[in-house]
Amino acid sequence: MRKPVRKAVFPVAGLGTRLLPATKAMPKEMLTIVDKPLIQYAIEEARAAGIEQFYFVTGRAKSAIEDHFDVAFELEATLRERGRTELLDELRAWLPPPGDVAFTRQQRPLGLGHAVWCARHLVGDEPFAVLLVDDLMVGDPPCLKEMIDTYRTTGGNLVAVVEVPREQTRRYGVLDVVSDDGTLVEARGVVEKPDPEVAPSTLTIIGRYIIQPEIFGHLAELKPGSGNEIQLTDGLDSLISQGQPFHGLRVAARRYDCGDKLGYLEANVGLGLTHPTLGPAFRRLLATYI
Ligand code: G1P
Repeated sequence: MRKPVRKAVFPVAGLGTRLLPATKAMPKEMLTIVDKPLIQYAIEEARAAGIEQFYFVTGRAKSAIEDHFDVAFELEATLRERGRTELLDELRAWLPPPGDVAFTRQQRPLGLGHAVWCARHLVGDEPFAVLLVDDLMVGDPPCLKEMIDTYRTTGGNLVAVVEVPREQTRRYGVLDVVSDDGTLVEARGVVEKPDPEVAPSTLTIIGRYIIQPEIFGHLAELKPGSGNEIQLTDGLDSLISQGQPFHGLRVAARRYDCGDKLGYLEANVGLGLTHPTLGPAFRRLLATYI
């Protein structure tokens, strides 16, 4: 019997340099897409997939993220006084129950693999999900839910993948594919940010992972890789070498790269157009610009 995926790690210590100056004093995870901060989309996606415990690996100047998970006492009291129950309900609806959210720190920016390793004691000995918050995934089924449903069959390690133009391989983790049924891919290796000439394929990892806990031992041993950082991709590659299955899933959800200015703008337009209350008016407004 496979252990269920109940825990998710959110590495949120990154500096957000690609979004400066917006991220000078504001964590990129708190930037809004239409009317919600990025972090909230990721939490809602994780909850929709049945995740019960939420672990954040934060860094300096990220306290706004912790505050977003707190009850805003004065704000709630004021809304109650004013009879704004619908806003109150909205503030509370997505909040995980007390004790189900925990924060740990990555004191030095040593890479994504190191950030995930910082959560090892919180995760313990069970499979877990990793969500990179600036990859905003929108669609039905929700991305992580689709992955967990697939994981029930595949087991092992599973990542969300997308095909990119070959010149972009040096921005992503890239799969060395053994078999591909059009949706699910099996890989015999995975390489972080290879040059296009040597990339084993053009099938790349986007920021959703289901990972076996044995990765922590490998992450502890890894030498710095691409960009002189401890790479999660290298940890995953070690697991493949140890004989664990590794699959990539072409997910139904659409990805917006919100760690990039153009992707961030695109997400606001995409989600603005489909927003349940603002959508129709936004569509008319946008038409006047084009
Ligand atoms: C990280 C991972 C990379 C993955 C990408 C997806 O890279 O290291 O393997 O393809 O996220 O967004 P980063 O964007 O942090 O450089």
